[in-house]
Amino acid sequence: MVKILFVCLGNICRSPMIEAIFLDLLNKEQLTKEIVVDSAGIANWHEGKRPHKGTLDKLTSRNVGHEWMKSRQITKEDWETFDYIIAMDDQNIEDLRAMMPDDSTTIVLKAADFINDEAITYVPDPYYTGDFDETYDLVTEASQRLLSYIREKHNF
Ligand code: 4NP
Repeated sequence: MVKILFVCLGNICRSPMIEAIFLDLLNKEQLTKEIVVDSAGIANWHEGKRPHKGTLDKLTSRNVGHEWMKSRQITKEDWETFDYIIAMDDQNIEDLRAMMPDDSTTIVLKAADFINDEAITYVPDPYYTGDFDETYDLVTEASQRLLSYIREKHNF
């Protein structure tokens, strides 16, 4: 089983959005036994809170489930549990590298690594841009290409 954790700063806008979209893909492809997902924030500011209304509205409008989602901060145990951590921007990567245990084998990647446009190097934060449509489109492409990458690498 492959375990993937999506990480952003607050775990209320971008990482819950990509988690929900990726899980929707897993359900459609019947891969929920092979791949499991979760999301977390670098910060604990929104611990226990539901995702941002902009993320919820966008997911609801596309029939993507999100009923269970609650914000949580990344933990030390996550570095033992997850095979992959997928971050949203370079600041996330810097923060993750600073907390990564020396003996961790978790592979840290950026969602933008899976977007087919070299000009896009991060997922803009709709908490600041207000543009949840842009984020939705980017993380949808990233989800599809990440799933192909994982399937190929792990022979699913
Ligand atoms: P996220 O966006 O990292 O995509 O969840 C943010 C959410 C909340 C805050 C910043 C970014 N905040 O400052 O509370």
